[in-house]
Amino acid sequence: MNTKKGLKLVERDEEGIDTAFRADVLEGLAQSQKAIPARWLYDEAGSQLFEDITRLPEYYPTRAETEILTERGAQFAALIGEGRAVVEFGSGSSVKTPLLLSAIAPSAYIPLDISGEFLRAAAADLAQKFPGLPVYPVEADFMRRVELPAEIVDLPKLGFFPGSTIGNMVARTAVDLLRSMRETLGTGAQLLIGMDLIKDEEVLVSAYDDAAGVTAEFNTNLIRRINRELDGDIPVEKLSHEARWHDDCARVEMHLVASEALEFSVDGRRFAMQAGETIHTENSHKFDRRTSNMLLLAGGWEPQARWLDSEGRFSLILAQAKPPRSAP
Ligand code: AVJ
Repeated sequence: MNTKKGLKLVERDEEGIDTAFRADVLEGLAQSQKAIPARWLYDEAGSQLFEDITRLPEYYPTRAETEILTERGAQFAALIGEGRAVVEFGSGSSVKTPLLLSAIAPSAYIPLDISGEFLRAAAADLAQKFPGLPVYPVEADFMRRVELPAEIVDLPKLGFFPGSTIGNMVARTAVDLLRSMRETLGTGAQLLIGMDLIKDEEVLVSAYDDAAGVTAEFNTNLIRRINRELDGDIPVEKLSHEARWHDDCARVEMHLVASEALEFSVDGRRFAMQAGETIHTENSHKFDRRTSNMLLLAGGWEPQARWLDSEGRFSLILAQAKPPRSAP
């Protein structure tokens, strides 16, 4: 069983299926607008497909954020200082985290992830790249307040949340997360967070609907996962990938559109879709200076510095934990 300190992180049934996955899919398919939480896109195949997405010519966010991390090291060092314990929310990718760590001379690195597997891989990779740096991986659901290892509780913290992953959450959930990060990191903490920017609709939509069809594969992989793990018979070939820009919400949405009327079953339950009806599978919110500032402030973080890549497509923001009360 997947436990740490008596806390069960992932609960599985007799067949080894994540019970939360089953519940989310059955509930999501029963809604009038069918919707499945985006986190379920990331099984092993999905995680590999996302890696492939980051290398696509249309998918600029990874390259843009990496450019900022590469170019702005001296400014991070000046504003963050030495000796902070870096707490990364989600396991560090092999490229971005070392760029930050080598810029700021941290005192420790604490990757947080719900998946022990990703976590151990990320921790081993970093420990090898930074031989003198203490690494304390913590298996945890970072949507809630996390208990940090005793060895680092008294050190000043820097939270790191790259990739514009915050954009996958609606505002209410994003604020909940920012607030719990502030509780996890404590007073005096800083947060370095990536937020993708609002731009031309064509650029945004093609970043999520690439010519090679990798994002389509990533999206339909969710259906293959449902069929495999939840005994489904959804006809994958009759659901097509669509990326649409929702202007009022400033987000790209991923949907799977039924090409004709469908009937299928999942886990013994029957579902139907009309031609043109969709399953909503992901939101990716985009920001501008004011909306990113507003979101951070709502979550208890005061923006301190903001950097864009050379083409002005992506932002990396440094913020400070706000004291509980401040006038006016
Ligand atoms: C890594 C979750 C931020 O929303 O841009 C990429 C995921 N989905 N292409 C994003 C994603 C489709 C990505 N995040």
